[in-house]
Amino acid sequence: MASASLLKSSTILDKSEWVKGQTLRQPSVSVVRCYPSATSAINIRASYADELVKTANTIASPGRGILAMDESNATCGKRLASIGLENTEANRQAYRTLLVSVPGLGNYVSGAILFEETLYQSTVDGKKIVDVLKEQNIVPGIKTDKGLVPLAGSNDESWCQGLDGLASRSAAYYQQGARFAKWRTVVSIPNGPSALAVKEAAWGLARYAAISQDNGLVPIVEPEIMLDGEHGIERTFEVAQAVWAEVFFYLAQNNVLYEGILLKPSMVTPGAECKERATPEQVADYTLKLLHRRIPPAVPGIMFLSGGQSEVEATLNLNAMNQSPNPWHVSFSYARALQNTCLKTWGGRPENVAAAQEALLVRAKANSLAQLGKYTGEGESEEAKKGMFVKGYVY
Ligand code: 13P
Repeated sequence: MASASLLKSSTILDKSEWVKGQTLRQPSVSVVRCYPSATSAINIRASYADELVKTANTIASPGRGILAMDESNATCGKRLASIGLENTEANRQAYRTLLVSVPGLGNYVSGAILFEETLYQSTVDGKKIVDVLKEQNIVPGIKTDKGLVPLAGSNDESWCQGLDGLASRSAAYYQQGARFAKWRTVVSIPNGPSALAVKEAAWGLARYAAISQDNGLVPIVEPEIMLDGEHGIERTFEVAQAVWAEVFFYLAQNNVLYEGILLKPSMVTPGAECKERATPEQVADYTLKLLHRRIPPAVPGIMFLSGGQSEVEATLNLNAMNQSPNPWHVSFSYARALQNTCLKTWGGRPENVAAAQEALLVRAKANSLAQLGKYTGEGESEEAKKGMFVKGYVY
């Protein structure tokens, strides 16, 4: 029978026991809170709490959002192929160098999500990418999930791998300079979603969030509701409500500190193949209604994914959501909707680097204005208006 007292943890392994050969920051306090119940002893680790809250609030700062540049090597290869480049480490390094060294990027971007290769990578002129980001006042983050695989027993749905060894990987990423993490799992509307797939997605996100916080990383919680499908916006709204209810249920069960997380939802839109399209005002109405119903105000930031929308569409929708004050910072964590024009402008040619960097800055600035509710949509290029939806997109 557990007693109602604060006890020193004896059942939780010390970090040094599971991370071999690393000098790790040790928790300043390690407390286990035990409630008087025969069945539930709730453990809450307080070691990184203050730092997590600070990191989350730094990322969720006015007029700033996240540059998602955590494409896996396979996905990065597809991007490079679209401009006729081979998927070599040197080409990935050249592209990522271009992205992180855009002059003034930190005015609009507060965090950058990296793939593991990039966290340990240097720029083409030998500076650590993590250091370049810090000099730009951008917090380095890391994708910690290991991708999607088929979910046995489901309706052809998937689940996200990566929990095995996550604690030691997260501790090592912290050592390398990462301060936040991302885990993307997906929910498919055309395939159901089945109750099993939603529960698995929510539980996995909650375990990841608890483990990340235990190792000093602010978890970005991302259950992406895919754009695929012919369904209308009402159906997306219904599914999103069910998904977020379950996610917060399990986050609470796993003692996740809400003040030290960030969310990365999909906007509530019609399916990509639905004939009835929605205006930015309609997307904002549905999405804000969803957030108000499901997201506690303790959460500092909502950092949307772009999911295949065009660059301009993603910016207009974000702007529409910031026309009046929200309880949370409502911002962006886009990959495609920040990088598309930049990548095309670059085309792999050294002489285009400056123009490509300018293209990224234009998008970052537009989304910064949208975060502040001040984007007008004027002067956008035709390229920026092109949708980027791909069926069954993997990251
Ligand atoms: P998109 O903005 O391209 O949908 O990227 C989603 C994502 O999870 C990147 O980290």
